[in-house]
Amino acid sequence: MPSLKQHQKRRTEFLAGLKRPVLLMAGGNKPRNYPDNPFPYRPDSSFLFFFGEAEADAAAFFDPQSGQVQLFLPARSPEGALWYGDVPSLADMQARLGVDAVDSNDELPGKIAALAKGREVDALAVADPKATALAAEISGQNLNFDSGAGQGRAELVLSIAALRSSKDPEELDEMRRTAVITKEAHLEAMGHTRAGILEQELAGRVDGCFARHGCVPAYNTILSVRGEVLHNHEHHNELHAGDIVLLDGGAEASSGYCSDVTRCWPVSGKFEGEAAEIYDIVLNSELAAIEQVKAGVRYGELHRTACMIVAEGLAEMGILRGKAEDLVETGAHALFFPHGVGHQIGLDVHDMEAFGDQVHYPQNRSRSSQFGTKFLRTDTDLRAGMTFTIEPGIYFVPAILNEAGFREQFKDQVNWDHAEKFLRANDGRGFGGIRIEDDVLATEDGYEVLTAAIPKGRQEVEDLVGRALS
Ligand code: GLY
Ligand code: MN
Repeated sequence: MPSLKQHQKRRTEFLAGLKRPVLLMAGGNKPRNYPDNPFPYRPDSSFLFFFGEAEADAAAFFDPQSGQVQLFLPARSPEGALWYGDVPSLADMQARLGVDAVDSNDELPGKIAALAKGREVDALAVADPKATALAAEISGQNLNFDSGAGQGRAELVLSIAALRSSKDPEELDEMRRTAVITKEAHLEAMGHTRAGILEQELAGRVDGCFARHGCVPAYNTILSVRGEVLHNHEHHNELHAGDIVLLDGGAEASSGYCSDVTRCWPVSGKFEGEAAEIYDIVLNSELAAIEQVKAGVRYGELHRTACMIVAEGLAEMGILRGKAEDLVETGAHALFFPHGVGHQIGLDVHDMEAFGDQVHYPQNRSRSSQFGTKFLRTDTDLRAGMTFTIEPGIYFVPAILNEAGFREQFKDQVNWDHAEKFLRANDGRGFGGIRIEDDVLATEDGYEVLTAAIPKGRQEVEDLVGRALS
């Protein structure tokens, strides 16, 4: 967990670049079904970045004129202690978080107006609509968390993004720590795999492993034999011998830092026939993209490399027809690899994705409109200290492969009879999909794979299947 000193350094750097005061909200509890029964609390990531922890409904005021940072926290009360236990006093919190002052968050608009002394205040939208509405009321700005443009003034968003996008050594250590826990979860799921059980038995082990280490899933764990459903959060299928399990699961620490890893393995313990070929293409694609990583490289180039290997591999198998360059040019590869090669990662699993393309497609780069490539979440130039995922995949998605428009558009570039066989595989359940994902750090002259210890060689993975049961 990054230290108090590191958080203070971040706040000082942030203050140094500000022209006007800033109000940041941590966000409050979100009710599941009635107000007293909330979802587990998750503070806003930028708030976590500057303070390392956050109580629900906390707010922070950064004043570049005085150089001071003031926190506003819920008032302490005996009733609060009755239900939720004793919490440190406001004075204790001031010392613990190393801020200049702490006050209660009662009547926040009046308190911020008094501090702003007529100056305009910049604010940031957060996932909690109530906190965003309060920040909008206080700042008079039009904030909307659901759109990149509604996050706050561009200067504010870009200055926070600049600080958050290169990870310091303490942040990297925290991500390495979640990678160790993520490895344990993946190995446990591989080890307990056998035909006849439901996906939920393995998903429960994954999330249970995170909980045992004081973590939560960084996103809803994807564990399914229907890996072609990219964000498949259902866990009700039974595992059959011919199925491939796809686990996309990562631990998030209480600091907010997380991992995001995908591995695939065969229920039977052996990738048979074309499944082995598909696995090797995806792995080669992932390795080739990772191999290109270093500061200065454009992320979109990594995507292109991954696409080229997938196109080449599928052409060698006879599923696609033509040269890789042409297949990637027309987008034929995207019928099987329909998403971007990855995204930044850090305090958010898709780090700063809420900030939108102003951060992720800088220098007036614009998103492709082509199917598949338009889902590339970032096309920024890599800088030393940036962390991101590399996660190519190959999927056989009925909704794509049965689409009349695609069939017509790619009639010469796809061997449709061959592709259809994958939809009918496994007694009609279909082949599913294979994705391999790691978290990668760009350095000045190369990279470090933060999740490298999680096995992904085909034979290595096969050898781990069912091992916990033998
Ligand atoms: N781990 C899910 C995703 O990257 O979208
Ligand atoms: Mn991912």
